[in-house]
Amino acid sequence: MSLDIVILAAGQGTRMRSALPKVLHPIAGLSMLGHVVQTARLLKPDSIQVVIGHGAQLVREMLAADDVNFVVQHEQLGTGHAVAQAVTHLKADNTLVLYGDVPLIEAVTLESLMKQLSDQSMALLTVNLDNPAGYGRIVRNVDGVVQAIVEHKDASPEQLKICEGNTGILAAPRVALTDWLSRLSNSNAQGEYYLTDIIAMAVADGLSVNTETAVDAMEVQGANDRLQLSELERHYQQRAARRLMAQGVTLLDPARFDLRGEVSVGRDVVIDINVILEGQVEIADNVSIGPNCVIKNSILRAGAVIKANSHLEGADVGEGADCGPFARLRPGTVLAARAHVGNFVELKNTRLGEAAKAGHLTYLGDTEVGARSNIGAGTITCNYDGVNKSKTIMGEDVFIGSNSSLVAPLHLGDGSTTGAGSTITTDVPAHALAVGRGRQRNLEGWARPKKR
Ligand code: UD1
Ligand code: CA
Repeated sequence: MSLDIVILAAGQGTRMRSALPKVLHPIAGLSMLGHVVQTARLLKPDSIQVVIGHGAQLVREMLAADDVNFVVQHEQLGTGHAVAQAVTHLKADNTLVLYGDVPLIEAVTLESLMKQLSDQSMALLTVNLDNPAGYGRIVRNVDGVVQAIVEHKDASPEQLKICEGNTGILAAPRVALTDWLSRLSNSNAQGEYYLTDIIAMAVADGLSVNTETAVDAMEVQGANDRLQLSELERHYQQRAARRLMAQGVTLLDPARFDLRGEVSVGRDVVIDINVILEGQVEIADNVSIGPNCVIKNSILRAGAVIKANSHLEGADVGEGADCGPFARLRPGTVLAARAHVGNFVELKNTRLGEAAKAGHLTYLGDTEVGARSNIGAGTITCNYDGVNKSKTIMGEDVFIGSNSSLVAPLHLGDGSTTGAGSTITTDVPAHALAVGRGRQRNLEGWARPKKR
């Protein structure tokens, strides 16, 4: 059966007290609406319709994608009115309604909801709550058959006692839904066109309303303010941490781990506290990540060791290579197997060959370092003349003396050496020693100045 998904995202979210439209507030680094669109895609729908209103232009720009169509709801006249705006774009047999501010909904839940749907029934996702204040209540008859949804503000004292709440998420056959939407009225406590009124219409038309209950209330929780946003963030992170532990990762404290993107993990990975993984991160077997590391869009190969307080972005760390503490690997950094990067070393667009080392206080940009070469403390590549960038190419077994300035473009042959404190401006042949500094003079019997 074909499916269109409508995501409601037109509301303002006043309680966020923000210039940003509510649905653009992030959970785990991705907008709430972004999460819902991602989940929607997993259902392989024929179309995804996003109903926008407040901040429409920004939402459009942030979420633009080939498979997403935006429908503008100029005035927010209610959830029923919002879905009605998308009706002309709906072509599939069935329609599923999701919410841009309910970001943690999972595809498995939606898949079981969709199983409740047929041409003779609609499907409704409900949730049992200790405190259902604000929620629409699911009204059932003595046989437990759903009759209607009553909004909190329209409910009788008796109905307010119902603890089964409406999540808002529902699915219905398109043709019936279209008809019901055209018949909605706004004569209710809030003067809105309630989507929830279609339930009673379905019952009147002889369709059954089948429910699925969300086991995890956080999965269907919306974010109306910053507190709820933070609760959803924590819930998301707990879920991510549990998933990783189930895959065989040791997290020294799952409450101090944050995933803002996607990670794949091998076996026996150990992650210490306060680590943030962002974007796409690949972690192979036996990798160890020390505390307070931020790792973005990087590959950590088997046995790599990332020590405390390191910051990696766009890096490829080879088998058994290590970096940190306090290493900064910027985009284009490649560490070959067993390469070593120590503290206060910044690498950008640079490859360290097998077992090459840059142990301390170094900047290497646009550089290739051959196998087993050793970069002394305080070495700087001068790769930028203010206009253009140039490369430094080093052979194998090169030894760079401490505090060398390597002025690119530069080529240093295999086995070459530079003297400590040198400024190297011309190529160094293989196995040569290059010294580029003033000779030391000792002035005997020199008297220090005296205070006047
Ligand atoms: C709605 C449901 C309620 C349910 C609750 C769950 C209705 C009438 N009520 O109530 O039964 O328990 O959600 O949270 O459906 N929106 C638009 N355009 C509009 C109005 C709303 O896009 O004109 C969007 C909002 O941005 C929001 C969502 O729809 O994402 C829900 O709207 P909201 O006003 O929060 O509905 P509730 O009153 O919470
Ligand atoms: Ca709401």
